[in-house]
Amino acid sequence: MIELTHDEEFAVLTIRRPGALNALSFELIERIGECIKEAGRSRARALIVTGEGEKAFCAGADIKELQRRGLAAQREGAELGQAVFALLDRLPIPSVALVNGYAFGGGCELALACTLRLATPNARFGLPEVKLGLIPGYGGTQRLPRLVGSGRALEMVMTGRAVNAEEALAMGLVNRIVQPPGLAAAKAYAREFSGHGLRALQFAREAVQRALDVPLHEGLRIEADLSTLAYRTHDAEEGMQAFVDKRKAEFRDE
Ligand code: CAA
Repeated sequence: MIELTHDEEFAVLTIRRPGALNALSFELIERIGECIKEAGRSRARALIVTGEGEKAFCAGADIKELQRRGLAAQREGAELGQAVFALLDRLPIPSVALVNGYAFGGGCELALACTLRLATPNARFGLPEVKLGLIPGYGGTQRLPRLVGSGRALEMVMTGRAVNAEEALAMGLVNRIVQPPGLAAAKAYAREFSGHGLRALQFAREAVQRALDVPLHEGLRIEADLSTLAYRTHDAEEGMQAFVDKRKAEFRDE
């Protein structure tokens, strides 16, 4: 089951399927999509994505459900997973994965699709699909190299070896290891940016995301366009005036 709750100024999406280490059935993936959209319509300043319990964030696609499917259904399933995780890119608020234990296969891919990633000390990240005769299908082969480089991504995808929290931090797969683990740490982390205007955060996320897809000269043009749009917002006016007035800015996300 997937649950969307609200905790102070944050939306929290929790994967709860304790009997299967929070593995993702197609039904759960669809529900994740509904919850992401609901979070986008809410007043939340950020979405925190996590798994119930201490053992697993999410152990990936439900392997039992994957068996004996037709090719068309299999392709549809991959496209569903990709489309649902891609909703996080377009979400008007940033997302933070709080990876508490195993993040394997589709679970690792869900974390990769979030804007930022936190790991608890017992977190383990892996794309073990080759061990099943498969390859990642929910964005892992595309997002992982963009985050950690193709050499490290190929090693993880080709060996199926899992990396622990320290290794994940060293390679840039996660932003921080949180201690003590738990939602409070994720909320404290999100508060480092959630007080900024959402428009500026959105333009900044888009500019950085596009940087990974386009040649430098085009990326610089995108940055000029988006920074000009940011300049036209009420929040930019307010932010600069607050600096001059030596007071805290009061952003309105406009
Ligand atoms: N799908 C379905 N069930 C799963 C599952 C998965 N991905 N991962 C774990 N489970 C189930 C197990 O079958 C087991 O259920 P039973 O008690 O009914 O037998 C229960 O969860 C507990 O799992 P384990 O007994 O295996 O727990 P463990 O502590 O010994 O091992 C683990 C933990 C190393 C994570 C191991 O469960 C594992 O390797 N899981 C599979 C991970 C994996 O291969 N993920 C990739 C899936 S394919 C994919 O995701 C494709 C894609 O790109 C979208």
